[in-house]
Amino acid sequence: MTKGAPYEELLRVPLETQFVGREIVALDVVDSTNTYALNHGKPGMVIVADAQTAGRGRQGHTWHSAPGLGLWFSVVVDEMWQGLSFAAALAVRDALADRCELRIKWPNDVLCGSKKLCGTLIERRDDITVLGIGLNVHHAREDFPPELRDKAGSLESEVGGTWDRCKVLRDVLTHLDGRVMLIRKDGVEAVRAEWASACNLIGRRIQTGPHTGTVVDIDRHGALLLATSSGTQMIPTGEITYLDGD
Ligand code: BTN
Repeated sequence: MTKGAPYEELLRVPLETQFVGREIVALDVVDSTNTYALNHGKPGMVIVADAQTAGRGRQGHTWHSAPGLGLWFSVVVDEMWQGLSFAAALAVRDALADRCELRIKWPNDVLCGSKKLCGTLIERRDDITVLGIGLNVHHAREDFPPELRDKAGSLESEVGGTWDRCKVLRDVLTHLDGRVMLIRKDGVEAVRAEWASACNLIGRRIQTGPHTGTVVDIDRHGALLLATSSGTQMIPTGEITYLDGD
């Protein structure tokens, strides 16, 4: 274990997990916990930082990761990566379920109402797979860059009350461990159907990029099968707009 002020309790009290968090590295500041994990990670390791200077989001976006405001962490896994993003979103939703009702929006955002609280980014190098999770906790509206203020929120801004980052992280890691162990034992299908149902997309009319259509299914890679006027399209990732209400 490595010392890190905001996460002392996480480091002091061992997690009751089988795989996730076998080793924990808590840093004050890092460029990106995913980069650190890709360079130094071992299976089961969790890297958490109070701040990131170059946090990465999906599709080349930057991830706003100011000190003290959120949970910025990465989990390293070995051979298994199918289903990992399903496990991540379900773990975040379930870890917080006693205090708020969160929903999962394809491709893998966790929202409270219409505000995105959490995003996940999976990256792979050689035989290391890294799951990065960013969860906004203490932000007020003005803590987000102006262009994000109508889209992003935090636990504090959307749910209210006080939040202990260390406890939230422990709960998310515990739930994630349960899901990861289930996938290892029973395969990706053990979480895919629940995740797909949580996305609440099947049968809905959406627009994504140039495509408009009705979602027929979500496959084991998380891709949408979209029935369009020119046939069925497979959409691996992207942004979606609901055409039949939010
Ligand atoms: C998204 O665009 O929704 C994905 C955001 C993922 C952000 C997390 S924060 C911890 C980890 N380190 C990074 O650089 N990115 C991920």
